Amino acid sequence: AQKTLLKGKKVLITAGPTREKIDPVRYFTNPSSGKMGFALARQAKVLGAEVTLIAGPVSLPTPQGVDRVDVTTAEEMYEQVLARYKDSDIVIKSAAVADYRPKQVFDKKMKKSPGDYTVEMERTRDILQELGDRKEHQYLIGFAAETNDLEHYGEQKLTKKNLDAIVMNNIAEQGAGFNYDTNASIYLTKHGKRIHWPLMSKDDLAANILQLTSTELVGEDS
Ligand code: PMT
Repeated sequence: AQKTLLKGKKVLITAGPTREKIDPVRYFTNPSSGKMGFALARQAKVLGAEVTLIAGPVSLPTPQGVDRVDVTTAEEMYEQVLARYKDSDIVIKSAAVADYRPKQVFDKKMKKSPGDYTVEMERTRDILQELGDRKEHQYLIGFAAETNDLEHYGEQKLTKKNLDAIVMNNIAEQGAGFNYDTNASIYLTKHGKRIHWPLMSKDDLAANILQLTSTELVGEDS
């Protein structure tokens, strides 16, 4: 039965960082490896789902049977995710999307000069907020990495972004968050479920998230 838990479901997952260029040889990014999102894609496939993975620049092999779309910037991720949103049943935003990008992008390499240099940054679009605002039938799951007050920030994000669930990663814990093979987190749902998961492999965490999601979906259908 396990292998058919998500049969017929279209699952859209984002993974990895985004990269925001300032000139042809420089950019802003973050340490996301994509491991969490790729683990989710792998596990969703194992459970029988039709999986699309929108991946930022990462060096990971595509899980078997998964439809992968590579993007670089937050804006490209926004476009690829939005284009597939209507058609998706479950959307999981495990990517670490840049909140800001350089306001001006130079075509030619910037030359250094003595003294400081200030880069003006502008906000990128908040993909998750946009998905929450446009939500119809989709089951929408957010992610966040925090060092403290996980439940408090989780509650806030659940409501503000109109999510069905959120995975709050405790990056203060050794072995959790960016680039590790393991993660420790609290899972919160809009129906008030609060689950504290100890440090475990990202594959096990992904399986737990998807198991719970399928239970919640059955609950909503009946
Ligand atoms: O990739 P790994 O190395 O395995 O690491 C996994 C991870 C730590 C990156 C991942 O598990 C995680 O926690 N991702 C969210 C990182 C984060 O702190 O996100 P945030 O607080 O900036 O954003 C919260 C949510 O909004 C996320 O679902 C994010 O995808 C989304 N967001 C953020 C900004 C933006 N412009 N658009 C968004 O959709």
